[in-house]
Amino acid sequence: MTKSQKKSKRVNKTPKSKRSKVAKPTQKAKLKIRRGGILNESDLRKLEKLLKSKKATYQDIQDTFSIDYRTALNSVNELKKNNGKLKEEYYEGKKQFWMPTTQEWEHLENQYTVPTDKDGKFKFALLSCTHMGSNYEMNEELHDFYDILDKENVKLALHAGDVFEGIKGSSRKRQLTELKFYGYQKFLDYGAKNYPKKKDIKTVMISGNHDNFFWDENGADIVQELANRREDIDYAGFEMADVHVNGLRIRLHHPGGGGAYARTYKLQRYLNEMQDKPDIYAMGHYHVNAYMHYCGTHAFMLGTFKGLDPFLARIGKFPDVGAWIVEVLVEEGKIKEISPKWVDYPDVKKR
Ligand SMILES: [Fe+2]
Repeated sequence: MTKSQKKSKRVNKTPKSKRSKVAKPTQKAKLKIRRGGILNESDLRKLEKLLKSKKATYQDIQDTFSIDYRTALNSVNELKKNNGKLKEEYYEGKKQFWMPTTQEWEHLENQYTVPTDKDGKFKFALLSCTHMGSNYEMNEELHDFYDILDKENVKLALHAGDVFEGIKGSSRKRQLTELKFYGYQKFLDYGAKNYPKKKDIKTVMISGNHDNFFWDENGADIVQELANRREDIDYAGFEMADVHVNGLRIRLHHPGGGGAYARTYKLQRYLNEMQDKPDIYAMGHYHVNAYMHYCGTHAFMLGTFKGLDPFLARIGKFPDVGAWIVEVLVEEGKIKEISPKWVDYPDVKKR
């Protein structure tokens, strides 16, 4: 007698009259796969399809496949192992999973592709500190800069923070007198309406300390919200992010603290300490411009689109109003040639 015949014989030992009295299967017994299992190959493909179409929690996955928590967890881990493009995030206290499309993934990873010319060179813009909503913002000049980008066929602008002036009334009352209007919503609406918009230009932004006055007060990330409102604007991160352009790693950084006498000092100091040096390091915050090649990195101070304000006037410093257009030639993943072009808007009215 084979093992299976023995088994079936054992099962059939229960008299027919008593079979109806056998307890109904419990919820656990109904599960397709017992604790600690994993979905089979075909169900894993179904799970992949599900996560490509919507976000799902462990509970959603358990319900869809009639499996227990441990099996859902193992199956999600299996997908992660075989296809790294699985994102997870918390929503209302629960972890949920989804698989972004290639296009969404590139955005999530801050990856961008820009066109190259016949010689293999490509361009992008670097700017910072637009301080929208300040009485000293230079929005006309900012629009002029984007007109130049458009004319020069530049498709990508990287903004290193202080998109907005923000409100710091709690500790700097005088700043309240330097604002065009008051309130988070007014700032957001103003930015969504007045930040330059060009059909084919994508702007990628991080937040700066001025944007984060709102964050410090009540946890509102105004730059992320601006990106939610505008198709042409992407949010890359909170005060620092690596953005990949045609394979080059560009670090956008909005540090804090006061400036130094030598305008390249902060670049050098940060690069000295940096373990994972990027190809290009772009620093906002200090409202001055500089370019240097240091420690194998092309480093930029990004200037501003805010004119001379009372604070700078008081300490005797003048802003460098303008921004960079950078053209590079990359060979074997490294920058072979670089041409940084500063576009200048001298704030002559106030000097
Ligand atoms: Fe700034």
